[in-house]
Amino acid sequence: MGGLVAFPTETVYGLGCDALNPDAAAKVFEAKQRPRFDPLIVHITDRGQLGNVVSALPATARQLIDQFWPGPLTLVLPKQPTIPDLVTAGLDTVAVRMPNHPVAQALIRAAGTPIAAPSANPFGYVSPTTAQHVADGLGSAIDVILDGGPCSVGVESTIVSLVGLQAELLRPGSITLEQLSTVIGPLSRSSAAGDQPTAPGQLARHYATQTPVTILTSIKARPTVTKNERAGLLIFSEASATDKHFAAIEVLSTTGDHREAARHLFAALRRLDAQGLDRIYVEPCQEEGLGMAIMDRLRRCAAS
Ligand code: TXA
Ligand code: MG
Repeated sequence: MGGLVAFPTETVYGLGCDALNPDAAAKVFEAKQRPRFDPLIVHITDRGQLGNVVSALPATARQLIDQFWPGPLTLVLPKQPTIPDLVTAGLDTVAVRMPNHPVAQALIRAAGTPIAAPSANPFGYVSPTTAQHVADGLGSAIDVILDGGPCSVGVESTIVSLVGLQAELLRPGSITLEQLSTVIGPLSRSSAAGDQPTAPGQLARHYATQTPVTILTSIKARPTVTKNERAGLLIFSEASATDKHFAAIEVLSTTGDHREAARHLFAALRRLDAQGLDRIYVEPCQEEGLGMAIMDRLRRCAAS
């Protein structure tokens, strides 16, 4: 115990450590070059572990857990004193989730302790959806990488805070606002954060490529690309013949399916980023359902 293990979840790969061990948590922050003010998510595999992590479980939490766990939903709740301050960045709340992936579940069970894990990428970069992505970004800093193949969801979990009077959506994900409000009624949306966010995953620039990203104004809009510019294009459906002046094109889903697009999003961004392009142009998608999470990640990637 005390080491770091990268592991697959249904959303993205996590960089895990014993959630009750502050020295291990310190290694996670070091490996990722993550600022200490950005708290980690605590992963559990059965409800019996909840009592060791959170100090209160409101009715809304129980309803969401019944409906969506195990799955890509993280709940922010009052924390137990056993969770080290480093894990929660000194907050009196903790983010907790039960992943729906057999390898993640087996790991947590074998460890016999909740596992604190951020996404397994250097701070600020695009999250990893394959074991190779983890090795590319953090390989030398990690003890073990468990390879569970590509992640099925592809964007990070939905985060809901249940500590205030009204439930608040802190990060959109594949459990959609519509699905959440069907179970617990209306949620507020956290206001877009500036440089001093309460949850730093909300930092304006995050999930970012090295290559500058520009989001196009509409679905079929295309930029004027000059002769000496090498531009990449990321789109949600088939490219058209007029797109051939782009140096690289990534199609997220040939049928415009948001689930497929989310699954391919980060790998496609990484491939484009590896090509030394001058700029990556991105088609926007409809901002409803899973499209809200996709556009959230793309906007943060494009923020300068
Ligand atoms: O899908 C996921 O959630 C993945 C997998 C590995 O589980 N994890 C992940 O972790 O995306 P990370 O560290 O990249 O993002 C966690 C987010 C951060 O934005 C952090 O600020 C927020 O959760 N967070 C953690 N604890 C919090 C708390 N007590 N209150 C508010 N936000 C919190
Ligand atoms: Mg992350």
